Amino acid sequence: MNIPCGQSFFNYGSGWLNGSLCAIEPTINITPLIIMRSKIAGIGHYVPERVVTNDELSRFMDTSDEWIQERTGIKERHYGKKHEETTTSMAAIAARIACERAGIQPEDIDFIIFATLSPDYYFPGCGVLLQRELGITHKEAGALDIRNQCSGFLYALSIADQFIKTGMYKNILVVGSEMHSMGLDFTTRGRNVTVIFGDGAGAAIIQPTDNPNQGILTTKLHSDGTYAEKLSFINPGSHGGYHSRHTGEEVDYGYPPKDTYGEIFMTQHMMDNGMQYPNMEGQFVFKMAVQKFPEVIMEALKEAGLQPSDINMLIPHQANLRISQFVQKTLRLSDDQVWNNIQKYGNTTAASVPIALCEAWEAGKVKEGDLVCLAAFGSGFTWGSALIRW
Ligand code: ACO
Repeated sequence: MNIPCGQSFFNYGSGWLNGSLCAIEPTINITPLIIMRSKIAGIGHYVPERVVTNDELSRFMDTSDEWIQERTGIKERHYGKKHEETTTSMAAIAARIACERAGIQPEDIDFIIFATLSPDYYFPGCGVLLQRELGITHKEAGALDIRNQCSGFLYALSIADQFIKTGMYKNILVVGSEMHSMGLDFTTRGRNVTVIFGDGAGAAIIQPTDNPNQGILTTKLHSDGTYAEKLSFINPGSHGGYHSRHTGEEVDYGYPPKDTYGEIFMTQHMMDNGMQYPNMEGQFVFKMAVQKFPEVIMEALKEAGLQPSDINMLIPHQANLRISQFVQKTLRLSDDQVWNNIQKYGNTTAASVPIALCEAWEAGKVKEGDLVCLAAFGSGFTWGSALIRW
């Protein structure tokens, strides 16, 4: 673009475009400002080898294949290998596949965003562990951990989108990975939660694109902490029972007298009473989910000036097949417009959206030019959506 001498160009630099410079050069060549979008340049997923059927679970807790399939649609899930696989190691496998498909090497990654609720360590987060696992510590690229449970991948993707659009990074690795099986209650006490969850990982490489017909069109993120404990994993934790003023429920965690030090984070009483497991009020979560999924999808569509009928593929977080079916019906989508794989994997929380997206893409159901909608709802509550022109 040629800017004539003396013409004001209010947002391009400062004193450089003044008379003295123009006295030397009659015109200045400036590349027009191109608005970058983010695209998913490569995607990968990994689930551990071991398949655990509903019948297998019914051997050590009072449940049945019939109950689980009827209420959730789940037939089986995968569990990682104890002492050999972790949330991070699974993420690394998915990440390497995503890198290969994006045509980059792990050392090209500028930034890592890792979403999980089942981290290897309480701290440090899995982001740095993944960086080490991928052998890219020499680069000292930043790593961020996201704690938004089922909507973690949506939050991670949205953050990556902002970093790409501002030009800060060129290759962002976004990961959702969960090793639920190491922390579930495998007794009848925990059956309402345990039968739902499975292990796995999904990863995507986010890059800039100047193709106006491609990329992330919008992301929408929401949360409401009012019901934080309705779907939660609170012990170990430093809460000390403080939140009973919100929950209206005083719980005995077995804390020592107030004038002693420590012993809040984890008590013997918690261990003895199985308080170190996830807790979920399933029906309450279900009702919120079927309301918020359609809302956040419609919000994204409206902003993009699109309709549900424009969606080529909806990838809902795989929380429960009944929830996905409800959302499909509400939005009047056909079976071809929705991808479900909860039957095989259960709910893999932060990994569920990237695993499902990757599978749909591998099956040729997500093609160039398609409108893909990702949506998730989960603990927090937090929820979100993303619209992507593939
Ligand atoms: N096997 C057999 N019986 C069971 C099991 C089981 N695995 N789990 C619960 N039951 C029993 C209950 O004890 C109860 O028995 P009762 O009537 O004698 O008291 C009965 O089944 C009904 O229990 P509900 O909890 O009312 O069952 P519901 O139909 O609601 O299904 C479910 C439970 C599958 C959990 C469902 O509520 C659900 O999917 N909720 C949403 C989950 C979700 O979306 N989570 C969000 C994502 S997860 C995340 O963010 C971490």
